Amino acid sequence: MPTSVIIMFFILASSPKLALSSNNFPLAKHKYCKDICGNIQIPFPFGTTKECYLSIEFWVTCNHKSFDPPKLFWEDTEIEITNISLNGQMTLLQPIAHDCYDRNGVNTSYSNTWIDLTERYFTVSSTANKFTIVGCDTYAYVSGNRLGRNFTAGCTAMCSSEVDLTEGECAGAGCCQTTIPKNAWQIQVELQSYSNYTDVSDFSRCGYAFVVEDSAFKFSKDNLTNLSNVTSLPMVVDWAIGSGTCQEAESDASSYACLSANSECYKPMHSVGYRCRCANGFEGNPYVDLGCIDIDECTNKTQNNCTKNEYCKNTQGSYKCSCPKNYKGDGIGKDGCKFFPKEQNMRIAFILIGVASGIITLLLAIILLYMELKRRSQRKTKRRFFLQNGGHVLQEKLARREASPEMVTIFSSSELEKATSNFSNSMIIGRGGFGTVYKGVLADRRTVAIKRSIRVDPTQIEQFINEVVVLSQINHRNVVRLLGCCLETDVPLLVYEFVNNGTLSSHLHNEAKARALDWSMRLKIAAETAGVLSYLHSSASTPVIHRDVKSDNILLDHTFTAKVSDFGASKLVPVDLVQLSTMVQGTFGYLDPEYMQTNQLTEKSDVYSFGVVLLELVTGRRALSFNRSVEEKNLANYFLYVLKQGLLFEIIDENVAGLGNREQISAVCKLAKECLNVRGEDRPSMKEVAMELEGLILGGRHSWTRNIENEEEMENLIGVRSSVGYDSICRDHIALPINGGR
Ligand SMILES: *[C@@H]1O[C@H](CO)[C@@H](O)[C@H](O)[C@H]1NC(C)=O
Ligand SMILES: *[C@@H]1O[C@H](CO)[C@@H](O)[C@H](O)[C@H]1NC(C)=O
Repeated sequence: MPTSVIIMFFILASSPKLALSSNNFPLAKHKYCKDICGNIQIPFPFGTTKECYLSIEFWVTCNHKSFDPPKLFWEDTEIEITNISLNGQMTLLQPIAHDCYDRNGVNTSYSNTWIDLTERYFTVSSTANKFTIVGCDTYAYVSGNRLGRNFTAGCTAMCSSEVDLTEGECAGAGCCQTTIPKNAWQIQVELQSYSNYTDVSDFSRCGYAFVVEDSAFKFSKDNLTNLSNVTSLPMVVDWAIGSGTCQEAESDASSYACLSANSECYKPMHSVGYRCRCANGFEGNPYVDLGCIDIDECTNKTQNNCTKNEYCKNTQGSYKCSCPKNYKGDGIGKDGCKFFPKEQNMRIAFILIGVASGIITLLLAIILLYMELKRRSQRKTKRRFFLQNGGHVLQEKLARREASPEMVTIFSSSELEKATSNFSNSMIIGRGGFGTVYKGVLADRRTVAIKRSIRVDPTQIEQFINEVVVLSQINHRNVVRLLGCCLETDVPLLVYEFVNNGTLSSHLHNEAKARALDWSMRLKIAAETAGVLSYLHSSASTPVIHRDVKSDNILLDHTFTAKVSDFGASKLVPVDLVQLSTMVQGTFGYLDPEYMQTNQLTEKSDVYSFGVVLLELVTGRRALSFNRSVEEKNLANYFLYVLKQGLLFEIIDENVAGLGNREQISAVCKLAKECLNVRGEDRPSMKEVAMELEGLILGGRHSWTRNIENEEEMENLIGVRSSVGYDSICRDHIALPINGGR
């Protein structure tokens, strides 16, 4: 234990004045003062020399010379001191008074004892001592002075037989005890006998008397005889400082004996003067400087009331009980501490908070990362779609073209999403096999139609691209203008000019609208449509076959100008190729029967379909009407049928069957019949059809009463190839109803 050694050394070195006893507190006033004699401690105020005792009354001497172990004596007397206690008592050895006789009752020896403590203001302790007499024919007095007043007390010990004596009991038989009065500082003991032991001389011939420390004497019948060998017995003396009170002592600091810090003065119960004691929680010698030292109550369980010694914490003059970590309570008594892992909980809470915030941060980071990755992947997907949708090719194509107002714009997907409020259902203006058409309003407030495929189908994408390519090459007032496209979505989106008046079909098959659509308008629409188809077939740099000519694909604007739309199924035909083998595409009712059989696509397929549109214009009937009888279901077939039957007038739309239109209607019927020829080769070209219709319009304007003789000429002029019997059929059988019975 080097640490404790160092501490000890430090204490020794730093307080050279103090002599340390085994008690760890200084007993003597100075280090050089003797504080032990033999095994008797000599606490200050006692001392063996002038420098070491407080005053002369505390002078003691230690005799080394005559005794081994040495003995302590009072001053220089032969009164031996066996104990000096700091609580104000000391034990002296006192001779025993005796009175002895022989068998005949003659006194053989006698002694009194006498003690005088007056000078010292010490008193014989009345509580710790008993005046004791031993003998069987004995009485004795104890007399003396107590604080200046005399006193006498006596006691008698008698017995007639040894049997009367009770071992350990001092109650008159052979032994008598009495207390001595308080504050006695002079004591004299005298012995007497009633009949000089003559009656008990067989077993008792002496009487003994002494003031003895109560605890040091227990009566035994042997003592009637064996006390003669004993010279002295312990007696307790109360000692104190001076003769004044505490108050008087404290007022004179120079002589005040309670020198130590944490010491206090008190008045002794049965003594004059005052004493000092260490305050509560301290022990040691209150009479020397720094003599009172703190008691470490925690080293001894009996000195503290903490639940466990470990819970005890020593303080100056006291101690504290406190519960260890994670326990709660005052730490006092049996269950002073209850398990309460608050700090642990808090630590756990802190750890949890830390972990939680870490996880949250991590999650946030992951979410951000995920969003960033998603954004990137979306961009990548858009880019992939763009490339997959032929955006690259398209871009190149567009780039090669001169910048012009007709140039196709490439829109971003978000732009179109905004325009159509995210492709909401309320913006849908048309649906078809191809997909859905939305109405949209661009950021520059232009109204547009946006075509979007429903299914993700590569062939559809092809169609869209096709349409872009076709339409990007077509610039014609009777074609719905393609404004741009968006290739960033799974299927490309096409953006068209918005044609606001609906389809031709919707006009023809609505009673009120059909009435408003008079013959000249219908003829104009027919001519415009024929014109643009003719243009597509021949004029464009690469011929285009529309493949899906029908009244549903002819849009009307507010001036009833026809606009052909939906080039989704269109085919670009290389110039040197007349025929193209393809999958049959188109709409039933309009489909070229030859094409259906042979799969050989030619421009004449469009001619056939256009023929059906002509019939629709003339008859106001649908190309396919499922609610009619079997013969009437297919308009083209039915038309040919009624022509044969000479019942054509029955199917002419009442709305156009005015007298003035008769010849033109008849011409259109004739033209339609040509167009519907089963053999494509027999059909006129679109150019011829367009010219015929233009001619009808021009002719009609100049002369509404064109006669039949001119027809031959006109036919020659426009070069319509007449099939056998056409003229007669058409001329003979077209019998228009006059006002249709209205
Ligand atoms: C001295 O006296 C005190 C108080 O009476 C006592 O506690 C102590 O044990 C005694 N010492 C001896 C050595 O008898
Ligand atoms: C009294 O006698 C007993 C028994 O023999 C003895 O032990 C004791 O020391 C005697 N007392 C005294 C004071 O001598």
